[in-house]
Amino acid sequence: MSEGLTLLPPAASAAARGTDVLYLTLVGFSGLIAGIFIALIVIFSYRYRQNARINRDNPPSHARGLEAAWTIAPLLVFLSLFAWAARDYVLQTRAPADAMQVFVVARQWMWKVEHPNGRREINELHIPINTPIKLVMTSQDVIHSFFVPAFRNKRDVVPGRYSTLWFQADRAGEYLLLCAEYCGTDHSEMKGRIVAMEPEDYARWEERGVSHPGLAQRGYALFRRHGCMGCHAAASTVHAPELSGLPGRRVHFSDGRTIVADDTYMRDSMIEPQKDIVAGYDAIMPSFKNQLNEEEILAIIEYIRSLGSDQLMGERP
Ligand code: CUA
Repeated sequence: MSEGLTLLPPAASAAARGTDVLYLTLVGFSGLIAGIFIALIVIFSYRYRQNARINRDNPPSHARGLEAAWTIAPLLVFLSLFAWAARDYVLQTRAPADAMQVFVVARQWMWKVEHPNGRREINELHIPINTPIKLVMTSQDVIHSFFVPAFRNKRDVVPGRYSTLWFQADRAGEYLLLCAEYCGTDHSEMKGRIVAMEPEDYARWEERGVSHPGLAQRGYALFRRHGCMGCHAAASTVHAPELSGLPGRRVHFSDGRTIVADDTYMRDSMIEPQKDIVAGYDAIMPSFKNQLNEEEILAIIEYIRSLGSDQLMGERP
């Protein structure tokens, strides 16, 4: 983590090494083509300089074959590079379904991390290697950007919505975590470290520090404290949408739109409940905008997720 000036930061995932190969190939081809141009300029400047004794009769006005070749060959090369990069981009954007989910809340100027079992850390993220990790991130104030050079991966962290980033480290070690979006005075100090550990070490680490209940449990406590039960409990007399099995379910709105419920939808439903009214229900839910902070919202979402699909009421997409 404290190496000196290097050409490239360490690469700690297969995706990072893939990105390096792509990058170096692109640099290589660009260099090759620039080199050809420079060489031709030098050669022609010398060969056709003034007073050079050279036959200048009947210069050819065009050479179709040559022109086609120098147009089509680079085109094919760079289109192939585009296809390659697009494939890598898609692979690095879509997290595998079995990825371990970790929550990140950014604020001026720190990274707050919460593991599924409730273990929390600040400016540090411990992860097991050879395990896909999916970060679900949001910001409490301004736009930040979660950047781990060793994974060649970066994603903006934006207030008011969730962004995700995934990676799979395959080398144990410590790697720099940076904020890559100017976010105020101490932007340059908003850094931390990723500690990639062998899975057994990680399991021990995770066990060691649990000092508070898990996220879902805290979400349940908040759910009760804020009176959500009054309407959303199954036995309630108030007519409110059923929440068990909600994540991933298709939701129909009163204005005819439908969406698949994701974290952002659940967050919006707490902050701006009047925005999307579920078909068949009255717009009676109050906003919890100033009553819940981002970590509490994440906890409630995690609680709703923990309700699972075993008591599934609605249709699945
Ligand atoms: Cu946070 Cu820059």
